[in-house]
This record gives sequence, C-alpha cells and structure tokens, in this order.
Amino acid sequence: MTQRSVAPCAVPSPAPSAPPPSEWWRDAVIYEIYVRSFADGNGDGMGDLLGVRSRLRYLADLGVDAVWLTPFYPSPLHDGGYDVSSYRAVDPRLGTLDDARALVAEAHGLGMRVLIDIVPNHTSSEHPWFAQALRDEPGARERYVFRPGRGEDGAQPPNDWESSFGGPAWTRLPDGMWYLHLFAPEQPDLNWENPEVRAEFEDVMRFWLDIGVDGFRVDVAHGMVKAEGLPDAGFTGQLKLLGRAPLPFFDQDGVHEILRSWRRLLDSYPGERIGVAEVWPPSPARLANYVRPDELHQAFNFNYLAAEWGAGPLRQVVDASIAATDLVGAPTTWVLSNHDQVRHVTRYGGGRRGTRRARAAALLTLALPGSVYIYQGEELGLPEVLDLPDEVLQDPIFFRTAGADRGRDGSRVPIPWAGGESSFGFSPPGADPSWLPIPRDWGRQAVIPQLGDPRSFLNLYRNAVRLRRTHPALGRGTMRWLDSPPETLFFTREPGLLCTVNLGADPVVLESPGTLLLASSDMRSNGLQAVLEPDTAAWWSRTSP
Ligand code: NOJ
Repeated sequence: MTQRSVAPCAVPSPAPSAPPPSEWWRDAVIYEIYVRSFADGNGDGMGDLLGVRSRLRYLADLGVDAVWLTPFYPSPLHDGGYDVSSYRAVDPRLGTLDDARALVAEAHGLGMRVLIDIVPNHTSSEHPWFAQALRDEPGARERYVFRPGRGEDGAQPPNDWESSFGGPAWTRLPDGMWYLHLFAPEQPDLNWENPEVRAEFEDVMRFWLDIGVDGFRVDVAHGMVKAEGLPDAGFTGQLKLLGRAPLPFFDQDGVHEILRSWRRLLDSYPGERIGVAEVWPPSPARLANYVRPDELHQAFNFNYLAAEWGAGPLRQVVDASIAATDLVGAPTTWVLSNHDQVRHVTRYGGGRRGTRRARAAALLTLALPGSVYIYQGEELGLPEVLDLPDEVLQDPIFFRTAGADRGRDGSRVPIPWAGGESSFGFSPPGADPSWLPIPRDWGRQAVIPQLGDPRSFLNLYRNAVRLRRTHPALGRGTMRWLDSPPETLFFTREPGLLCTVNLGADPVVLESPGTLLLASSDMRSNGLQAVLEPDTAAWWSRTSP
C-alpha cells in the first residue's frame, strides 16, 4: 500500500511542506455516517453534528481514512433529509454551520477527511425555488420539469415514468400542470438544462469546499439528465430494472458533461477533493463511465453488495468490477451495506449464520484492491431491524406502497454505544426517546462491551482496518486468484498476503498457508495444516514466490 499522506487541516490551502498528491481515495476506507442515527448530542432523540463530533475519536481508532455524512441540511424530512430545502445551511435540529466547521476541523485534526452528501437531482418541495414555481413566478418553473398532461383535459401524466418510491413520477398541480419527481412528490426534479441550476450547484459546492470538506457523495448522480423529449419507458415495474437495463430517466450520456465540470471544480481546490457517484447504471462498463479520469473519483459498486453469498457469484462480481474500473484507471469500491439496503448480516441469512458470514465478508472485502465503504453499525455486526412498529416508520417507500414494502428504516436504527444505559448511550441521560426505537437486545452489541471483548465483531474490524493500513500488500494494487476447492475463494496480494474464504458448508484443510494474521472465526492449526471452517475467512502472511 502506498504511503498515506496526512489529511489536510480545516483551511483549504495546504501547508507549504504538504506531500505530493497521494490519490488517497484509491485505497481509502470510508465510513458512512447516517447522521440522524449515529449519536445524539443535544438529547432530542435524533443524531446530530454534535454527536458526530463526540464520536470522531472512535472513528479514528477504528482506523478509517474518511467519513461520509448523509444530508444534514434543513429539510422537512420527507425522505430522511434527501429532500433539501436549503443547501448552504444546517438543519437546526442537527446543529449549526459552526458545528459543521468544527466537525471538519476536528476530523482533519484526527487525520480523517470529510465527505458530505450533495443532492442535485431534486430539491425539497419546500425549497424557495419550488415555492416560486408553485406560484408560477416568471422563469421559476424552468428550474424544474413541468409539462402539460396527456389525454382529454391533460388528466393523464405526461409519460409513463414511475417513482422509485412507488406510484407515478408525476404530480398534478391545481392549475393543471404536472411536475416530475423520480422520488417522492416532495422531491421535485430539477431541470439541468437550465444554466441557472448548474450555476447554483457549483456555487453550493464552492460554499462547502471553502469550509474545508474533502468532497461530495453525489446523490442520484445518474439522474440529472433525462432522455430527450421524455419518452415513455413502455413498460411497468421500471425500478425492478434499475441497474440492469437502460431507463429513459437514468444514466443518460448528458450527465457526464455535468460531472466533468464538477471535476474541474474539485481539481481547482488544493488537497485532493473528490466526488463519489451514487449510480445504478445497467452494466459495469456504464458504471466505469462515471469514473473516467476527468469525471468523478469513485462510484459505489452496488453489484458487489447485491451478490449472493457464494464463491461463484462473488468471484464473478469481483472480476467484472475490477475489469470495468481498470479500463478507465479508477479504483473499485467495495460496499456491503448502506442506509438504503437491508443490512448484510440479515441478507446473508440472519442470526448466527448471517453474523458469521458477515465477519468473513469483512475480511474478504478489506482484502480486495481498492477502496472500502463501511456503513455505521456494520462494524458492530448489527442486523436489519425487521419488527419496527408501523407507527414509527418514516420512509416514504412504506407510505407510497401502502405498507407493501416496509422501506429502509430497519437499516437506520440508532447506534448502540453503551450496554446498560438508557437509549444505549445513543442520547445523553434523560433525553427524549430515539426517533426509531433501539431493540432491547442490542446492549450486547453496543460499542463499549464490544471494545472489551477481543473476539468481538468490532475488534475484528479494528484489527482488519489497522492491518490494511500497515500491510504493504493491502489497499491499492492487484490480486491473483489461486486454484481452490469448490465454494472457496483464495487469492494473493503481493507482497506476501494470502486471503482464504470458505463460503461452503464443509470445513476445508489448508496446507501450509503461512502465518495466520487474522481470522473471522476460530482457526485450528498445527503449523503445517489449518482448518478453515464454513463461512470463515483468514488472512495469512507468507513468503512471496
Ligand atoms: C439515494 C439515497 O441514498 C436515498 O436514501 C434517497 O432516498 C434517494 N437517493 C433519493 O434522494
């Protein structure tokens, strides 16, 4: 792994003795903080920037290179903050601009960079621009996508597009016009053909870059440009094809020109500021388009997240992902969970089996070449919460599907920090109940008890992330598969690291694998032979050929 440079301090200009660019993102471990569920500093039951600041030391000790904060902007919270009503401010429930400044400075002081979310595809319906559009002020509707309807009296939507959250992607106003919202009706899509929209977002980015953030996770980065003439998709169930087939509202070629202009903006700042694309293109090759040298630095690799637990599917997705990003010289990212997906302990079977597999997945993932994203709580082995009562659910998916899909709240339950305390240390003593209830049996999985247990999930992550930082074979570079028994994955990283994963149901005997560095479950070894139990991964140090 290449030497890492020290993170820049809060001020944008680097010290004169700053090391040459490290391209730090190529092998960074980046930790996703879902702000409202991470840590509650002010006692209102909702996570906030003060809470994040109070836990930065925990993240530095975990060994991550950067954090990504989900939206903390003022928002009516129709979609967990991805409905932004003001882009240059902090939601008063989550803190102040000064808190944001302090957070950036403190993270930098601990050697971590800070990425923030930017939401350019849509605003909140409470954004002043949309209020002006509703009043039909001159030019205001040009900033969004307004169209007359079809059919008699224009009573049918302008086309057949479906919202990602269920139902049509169009809503009609009392004056008869329709507006587009690929997500909730409270998230009207912006019109990126309008230069005013482009100028506004460049300005917003400058605002945050000037504060010192190290880059942006770009929400729906494949959605800003729609197919010319807004043609029908021609079929229903469109979102089932997300990431699998072309759709007229995602992954249009025009988005790349916008991303190129953002790359120029990022590059005009010192300190290696980056952009990360949240995209669901129909193929790895289309994904690679977003990380061409003059576009963004990284794109989330959701194909890896979506792969089944099995040697065949995982090997196939690893190869396809690396091949695609290699073509454009970009790093691959490895993502197991995020705030939109069922947590992977649960996806991998839940209970002891899911936990065991998730531990093995941690070592597999952290051994792959490229950059790794960790979703808060993943390092604690938290499962999806499947039994949240209806009355606490907040995700628009739950409401827009009339409860048929319970939505994503189960992956957003607040983090347990301390075993025995009320709210498990998520909030200060005497605080309001947390915005989503924390399961009563999460005390055992809280941070403090796990820190004291050398075999805990948390200590597995801490050891793996730390080893990844110091071992010269890990991080960026290449990998080589070795022949291995069915339902296993063995690969080397040079110099001198072997990763072995047993995804099958039977133990596998390894002959002279080397010196054990780290294993996800107990390992029986007599020096020459070792037994790799089912759903177990191990890292070995060995002399390179
Ligand atoms: C992706 C975000 O991760 C998700 O939470 C949000 O609902 C949509 N984009 C819409 O902004």
